[in-house]
Amino acid sequence: MAQNSHTMLSLTLLFLTFFGTSHAHAGGIAIYWGQNGNEGTLSEACATKKYTHVNIAFLNKFGNGQTPEMNLAGHCNPSTNSCTKFSSEIKDCQSKGIKVLLSIGGGIGSYSLASIEDAKNVSTFLYNTFLGGKSSSRPLGDAILDGIDFDIELGSTQNWQYLARFLKGYSRFGKKVYLGAAPQCPIPDKFLGSALNTGLFDFVWVQFYNNPPCQYNGNITNLVNSWNKWTTNIPARKIFLGLPAATEAAGSGFIPANVLTSEILPIIKKSRKYGGVMLWSRFYDVQNGYSTSIIGSV
Ligand SMILES: *[C@@H]1O[C@H](CO)[C@@H](O)[C@H](O)[C@H]1NC(C)=O
Ligand SMILES: *[C@@H]1O[C@H](CO)[C@@H](O)[C@H](O)[C@H]1NC(C)=O
Repeated sequence: MAQNSHTMLSLTLLFLTFFGTSHAHAGGIAIYWGQNGNEGTLSEACATKKYTHVNIAFLNKFGNGQTPEMNLAGHCNPSTNSCTKFSSEIKDCQSKGIKVLLSIGGGIGSYSLASIEDAKNVSTFLYNTFLGGKSSSRPLGDAILDGIDFDIELGSTQNWQYLARFLKGYSRFGKKVYLGAAPQCPIPDKFLGSALNTGLFDFVWVQFYNNPPCQYNGNITNLVNSWNKWTTNIPARKIFLGLPAATEAAGSGFIPANVLTSEILPIIKKSRKYGGVMLWSRFYDVQNGYSTSIIGSV
């Protein structure tokens, strides 16, 4: 009897060790690509095998009845249709198992959703132009992106939850539509709070930079406390730690790679919701080699 209880206890401890909360979860690296013509092509980024998710940035004009516009900096010019060359590169990335999303919004642009009807129209436009629908005008060609990333940082705070619902609804027509979001770390996010509360987001890469109250400042406490709120209070499938890939990539919040791998990742990886690290951006990652420094620990 004593022997049996002992065995049970050992098995229980073994089970907890492997499947309990102390287990560290493996993650991936999400990268933003598109805002610097000198960062190399999409295929080059995907060929590094460093990234599991690529956000093509940005569709920075849409909504409120505006004709939508994409901006990919020096990579190509949507108005002369030269961005269609990335269609085969998107498919190449997807063939490597990498999820490719279109990021809408960004720090510079003209976008907002004036009403529920406007959100509906924008969702139709996105589905027909970048996802599984059909349009005579597809700036990234016939490649079907895996989803839409919401990087909403300006304009109106309203109606983003409706856009999320309408876009997710298109999953019914075949290929699943993934939703990503890049909120700021203070909770609730002014623009995306209601959208995130729908529970429809698959990947939430929280910006733990340019946000002193919740970022690393030589001390990990504020960041870890904020991370714990995100992973316990926000109903998203996976949460990523969003970081600048170099000091110059953001106003503040850069974390030296050795601090991230030795002090922060071991703590945040305990969360079941941990999805990995998001980096802004491919350009700065090429300059600084940040993903190379951290990938063994992500
Ligand atoms: C939505 O699209 C329809 C059809 O293209 C158009 O008539 C309507 O004005 C649009 N609504 C908004 C709010 O842009
Ligand atoms: C980090 O900050 C917390 C809260 O402000 C404080 O309690 C802690 O002592 C600090 N740790 C270090 C190593 O300075």
